[in-house]
Amino acid sequence: MIVAIDGPSGAGKGTVARALARELGYRYVDTGAMYRAIALQALRDGIDLANESAVEHVAQEAVINFEGGRTVVNGHDVTEAMRTPEGDVAAASVARLPAVRRVLVARQRAFGKGGRLVMEGRDIGTVVFPDAGAKIYLDASPDERARRRAADRAHTGSGRTDLADVASALEARDASDRTREVSPLTLAADAELIDTTGVPIGDVVKRALSLVRSRLGDSA
Ligand code: DC
Repeated sequence: MIVAIDGPSGAGKGTVARALARELGYRYVDTGAMYRAIALQALRDGIDLANESAVEHVAQEAVINFEGGRTVVNGHDVTEAMRTPEGDVAAASVARLPAVRRVLVARQRAFGKGGRLVMEGRDIGTVVFPDAGAKIYLDASPDERARRRAADRAHTGSGRTDLADVASALEARDASDRTREVSPLTLAADAELIDTTGVPIGDVVKRALSLVRSRLGDSA
């Protein structure tokens, strides 16, 4: 079974995907971290993020390691740096490049080989694993997503906590993710939409878990 979790920033994907993986004993892959890691490596290499073939080369060569909750690319720990506002913008920019997506989608499919995987992103149920056994699309109102992002220290550690700034940055990135030509963020026809606005995260996890278990034919 592969569980695909998609949705916009701040919808709760990371929390829900990690909890599902823990409950089910599955592996967890955050594909957003892969786009972020490639973007930071390209910046480190002094590459213009609009140079598609140069960023593609970075994606092909990059050794990305996710051990122990850290993200390490080519030996550099980017766990904190990749969640800064600059990391947000850089990741959205490389995620628009078709050649980069091709490289990362191939890597993501390779993770799926053994099954028993929860993968979160924007195009997991639509492109990476269109045959995933369970597809969940998490959403929440723009206000609530901005509030969650502003309260998330991983994203605001660099000091920007003004809600209006966070909301406008989030809106710009969402627009980029939804309108890009390749694999834009969309709701798969067969995905279960969960609106998490005002819903305690524990309740969202329970609902997602019961959906996955019903797909597994498990009555628990
Ligand atoms: O989930 P996130 O915010 O960490 O993702 C970082 C960026 O990468 C964001 O702009 C969306 C993009 N992304 C994508 O295009 N496809 C994915 N499967 C995952 C993330």
